Amino acid sequence: MTKNVGVLTAGGDTPGLNAALRGLGKSAMYKYDLQLVGFYDGFRGLLHDRNILLDDSALSGILTIGGTILGTSRDKPHKMDMGGKLKDMRDAMVDTYNQHHLDALVCMGGGGTQKNAYGLMEKGLNIITLPKTIDNDIANTDVTLGFDTALGIATDAVDRLHSTAHSHHRIVVVEIMGHNAGWLALGAGVAGGADVILIPEIPYDTQNIAEAILERSRKGKHFSIVAVSEGAMSKKDRKREQEIRDEKQGAKDKKEKEKAKKALGEFYKHQSDRTMRLARNLEQLTGLESRVTILGYVQRGGTPSARDRLLGSMIGGSAAALIAEGKSGVMISVKGQTTKPVKLETVVNKRRIVPTDHLWVKTARRVGTCLGD
Ligand code: F6P
Repeated sequence: MTKNVGVLTAGGDTPGLNAALRGLGKSAMYKYDLQLVGFYDGFRGLLHDRNILLDDSALSGILTIGGTILGTSRDKPHKMDMGGKLKDMRDAMVDTYNQHHLDALVCMGGGGTQKNAYGLMEKGLNIITLPKTIDNDIANTDVTLGFDTALGIATDAVDRLHSTAHSHHRIVVVEIMGHNAGWLALGAGVAGGADVILIPEIPYDTQNIAEAILERSRKGKHFSIVAVSEGAMSKKDRKREQEIRDEKQGAKDKKEKEKAKKALGEFYKHQSDRTMRLARNLEQLTGLESRVTILGYVQRGGTPSARDRLLGSMIGGSAAALIAEGKSGVMISVKGQTTKPVKLETVVNKRRIVPTDHLWVKTARRVGTCLGD
């Protein structure tokens, strides 16, 4: 008997999502006798039952297109903004699932989506997730969908910034996405030959960076590329952040907790322009003119790389195969050259950050790149 499957894409979009939808949908149709319905704009579409039948024509011609044909949002099922009030809407989502007589729901997303999907699993839904984020920070998978494309874009930017930095004898500080994980900045920094790479996992000392840049000048290299991850922090700031977090953790009453929460908010507000501040400080310390380039959303846009199209097709197809076998409660992870279902419990509330002894870190150090520590 034909099984019914729902699918949604949630969190920040990534290149390769359409390849994953196509991989899932075409495998469902041609190989496993599953019927696929897509919900628009993440969990909100599931709530309001805004859907589309993902048949052959809906899935045609999308393999090479960036973004997601379903649309996405950062809505959380257990904390939905319903006209200004946060409400747990999971039961209403369960109703939509039941109205469609779904046998499984596939949720494609990053760390937040894995957690949200798990919350629906706790409500009794058969959930399968796919790991998707340019940040590459999902636990229990070697890689995430979208990372390869974003890495390519960021590397291309570092390459291009070299010639302009060189021509003007400037420091160019390039801010690269990645949230609180340094995979993108580190990967693009090593691949693009940045002179300094700053990642959240290794707090930096601005004086050390200035010294490395001045040392390059002494060797006759009057320009430098600083690849900085958006989550990178100075040692001093990291220490302060930890202090406030400890205060929040150790708060004796509600008042103290609120105070620490406010202080943390203020701290992060002040952090929002830290890349600009870093560039200004480096200019003062080295006497070299500095410029900032914030890559931003360009890293998430456009055509997916061949590797992400392959990956999306593979994990989409593997999800269909698993649903046909009647399995759920897992994320389709990537292990080496193959895909492997791993229990959602091993993924939720965990983050895969860069180990400070990772080969990419060692490689950067071996070729003389300053990591700011
Ligand atoms: O998680 C992907 C990501 O692009 C991060 O690198 C970045 O910090 C964040 O999303 C930006 O979020 P938003 O799309 O909500 O602005």
